[in-house]
Amino acid sequence: MDSGTETNIAVLGLGYVGCVTAACLAKLGHRVVGVDRDEHKVRNVAAGHAPFYEPGLEEIVKETTGSGRLSASTDLAESLASADVALICVGTPSEANGNLGLGQLRRVSEEIAKSLPKRTKELIVVVRSTVFPGTCEEVVAGTLGSLPHYKVVSNPEFLREGSAVRDFLEPSLLVVGGDDAAAVRRIASLYDSLGVEACLVTLRTAEMIKYACNCFHALKIGFANEIGTLCAKLSIPAGEVMDTLCRDVKLNISPAYLKPGFAFGGSCLPKDLRALTYRAARMDMKLPLLESVLPGNEEHLRRSIQAALALPAARIGIFGLAFKENTDDLRESPVVTLIESLLGKGRELRVFDPHIKIDEIYGSNQLFVLNAIPHIGKLMEPKLDQMLSWCERIIVTQKPTREMSQLIAASGVPVLDLVTI
Ligand SMILES: NC(=O)c1ccc[n+]([C@@H]2O[C@H](COP(=O)([O-])OP(=O)(O)OC[C@H]3O[C@@H](n4cnc5c(N)ncnc54)[C@H](O)[C@@H]3O)[C@@H](O)[C@H]2O)c1
Repeated sequence: MDSGTETNIAVLGLGYVGCVTAACLAKLGHRVVGVDRDEHKVRNVAAGHAPFYEPGLEEIVKETTGSGRLSASTDLAESLASADVALICVGTPSEANGNLGLGQLRRVSEEIAKSLPKRTKELIVVVRSTVFPGTCEEVVAGTLGSLPHYKVVSNPEFLREGSAVRDFLEPSLLVVGGDDAAAVRRIASLYDSLGVEACLVTLRTAEMIKYACNCFHALKIGFANEIGTLCAKLSIPAGEVMDTLCRDVKLNISPAYLKPGFAFGGSCLPKDLRALTYRAARMDMKLPLLESVLPGNEEHLRRSIQAALALPAARIGIFGLAFKENTDDLRESPVVTLIESLLGKGRELRVFDPHIKIDEIYGSNQLFVLNAIPHIGKLMEPKLDQMLSWCERIIVTQKPTREMSQLIAASGVPVLDLVTI
């Protein structure tokens, strides 16, 4: 487990994250001093004890303090003097209005700032606390300002209390963000012996990834609980439903549907969400998470419409009429609403969809075009190049084939790409 290259690390804050991080980094072979203003925590760690219960932590603290790799102190300035890396693990609690409390981070940044002028070697200041995107730049780099000898890096923590030691030693994700490539690589290398590939990103991306992960976890729990509650009401085994759902690793537990893009539509998702929430309401059940999905989708569509209306063009081409690529199904396509909004505001439109040829579609799709949206049927352009030579801007609502992408790019017509936001 020991890492070959030893780094001197000061871990600032010996709470759940800081103490586990300090002890585990020491176990990986680094020389670590854990710093906290709470004397009780420092005394405990210095004496070889975990300051709180966390499975496996007591043993690692005992082992690493015993070997001299881990020490603890209340003196931040002295601890930073010999450090190559300062790993900030202070608390970032919620304020009463939901805002993130950055008081501890500000104070610790000010203390680091005081120590910088005396340094001769570089200090990599790493933010491991969870902070809103922009905080590393605004609060940490903002406080350290033009002082010499420092770089700022973000390295969010993904451990869970109760399995924090295992989560550290077998991480689900390792993210290191920063603008200085050498500093980012140096921080990623602290974890080399764990054998996990680090995702190297920018500062703000690293900060955002942590929020995206936690919101996703919360969303998953909320979803499972709403489906579970509905199952219970219908006397259906909730565990079996969710376990079976999880067996689908192509569409359910997978990257599918997790790409930011255009609003969803089609013949199934809106209909089935409506049916489920309506039936739940009839049983006097509130499912706020599921009930919020369609309004969220409408809001997303509204943003796309605003972006389309802001285009400085009178003649606009629309690439894609169906609700997604490779289908001619028009039911509940959000593109119809987009088109109607643009027409209503006086824009001239032509619409091209590789799979919708008015003369060729039949059945419910043809009826839909002829009866429900005859005004849109008249706008259909059979050839992409014809539309491109006519329009001043093109709005892409579904993923084009490589050939069609090349055609669009070669035309020089500026694109509003709703597929990748
Ligand atoms: N607890 C978790 O499971 C978890 C998981 C991932 C990320 N995080 C994030 O990590 C951060 C820390 O969380 P935590 O649960 O360890 O917090 P915590 O409140 O348990 O610990 C913070 C510690 O920092 C110390 N501290 C504050 N200011 C200090 C200063 N100026 N100098 C020295 N020590 C100082 C406090 O005394 C405290 O011991 C938060 O941003 C949190 O959101 C927490």
